[in-house]
Amino acid sequence: MAGETECENAKPLNVGIIGLGTISNNHAHGFMKGGRSKITAVCDLYEDLAKARAEKWGASKIFTDYKALLKDNNVDAVDICLPPKLHAKVAVEAAEAGKHILTEKPMALTLKDCDAMIAAARKNNVKLMVTHNQLFYPPHQEARRLVAEEIGKPITSTSILYGGMPASDWRCDPKISGGFMLEAVIHRFYVSRFLMGEVKRVSCMTAKSDPDLLCEDKVMVNLEFEGGRHGVINANRCGPFGLWDDRTEVVGEDGMVIVNGVEDQIIGGPPLLHYRNGMWRSWCNTRMPEEAKDQFESKPPEELKLTTYELDDDFNNTFYYVTRHFVDSIIQNKTPFVSGEEGRRLVQIIQACYESAEKGKVIDV
Ligand SMILES: NC(=O)c1ccc[n+]([C@@H]2O[C@H](COP(=O)([O-])OP(=O)(O)OC[C@H]3O[C@@H](n4cnc5c(N)ncnc54)[C@H](O)[C@@H]3O)[C@@H](O)[C@H]2O)c1
Repeated sequence: MAGETECENAKPLNVGIIGLGTISNNHAHGFMKGGRSKITAVCDLYEDLAKARAEKWGASKIFTDYKALLKDNNVDAVDICLPPKLHAKVAVEAAEAGKHILTEKPMALTLKDCDAMIAAARKNNVKLMVTHNQLFYPPHQEARRLVAEEIGKPITSTSILYGGMPASDWRCDPKISGGFMLEAVIHRFYVSRFLMGEVKRVSCMTAKSDPDLLCEDKVMVNLEFEGGRHGVINANRCGPFGLWDDRTEVVGEDGMVIVNGVEDQIIGGPPLLHYRNGMWRSWCNTRMPEEAKDQFESKPPEELKLTTYELDDDFNNTFYYVTRHFVDSIIQNKTPFVSGEEGRRLVQIIQACYESAEKGKVIDV
């Protein structure tokens, strides 16, 4: 993001991470890279986990009660990597304690909670940012430029998430996670909106592959965007075990863009493809070994006329870009790109989808 190099010489921001499960590792990697921030405190209900994380990340303070971490004067900002139900409560208390806040998605389970978070951050003059990390994925950013400039008038988008990893923890319980659509499919929503513009109306069907499940594991969404554009989101997590793939496509009057597999890929290949005037352009995976790049470049299907460019498509780096942007927003006193209002808007759109599924109606948002 523009202007971030101005922050190179600023004093490192002291960060406390609350919730030390799976995703905290990706966040910690982001905060530790680049020297703009350091992790000074960690908190989890499990002390052994907190000790292990503190040792690995160089944090000097370990807490099992987040309220105690919030009293630590050596913490400037907190990163909330807790199950969604806890985001609002901890964020409001963090704001009251004068800490800047990065929270994982979804921002909260209800709009009321989102409003409380926004109000608390405003009142205490602290930054509030939500981790919509896939917006910071370079192939999505380049896709946005291509949609705006190089496919003519956009017509439709399709975004998929195919998972073969049935949830076995708090994710199964909609009272804690908000449901599969709010907790996991949210990435497909904010990416679709990033590429296609503001959402005006939604209709949605949800289903359970097993009636005993507490929340849906299949979701089909129709989106109407401003300007007569339309989109589809097709998501499930009841596919073959181990599968996890996502993809987003936009078709315009003169061309097409495909962002292929952010977290994983079913079909492999380049992270980004662009079609226009009978030509396909593709972007190389910067992680791809040199020999694989050669192989790919030397064997394009003749009719596709592939050209390759490099893009960083390392999913883990999206968290580096998020944490870097968060730190820079604080140092530069700027509103983060994914502000509380943005996080709230996504919760609002997805709540409208749940309402649509329940009532069998198209809902204005
Ligand atoms: N952006 C992404 O791609 C992405 C991916 C996975 C998860 N997430 C989000 O990150 C958040 C955390 O997910 P996760 O997969 O890391 O979950 P997780 O279950 O692996 O970790 C959560 C941690 O929070 C701790 N915890 C629970 N209650 C606590 C409390 N009161 N005080 C202190 N610690 C407490 C648990 O002990 C656990 O270690 C969720 O909001 C999830 O939706 C985002």
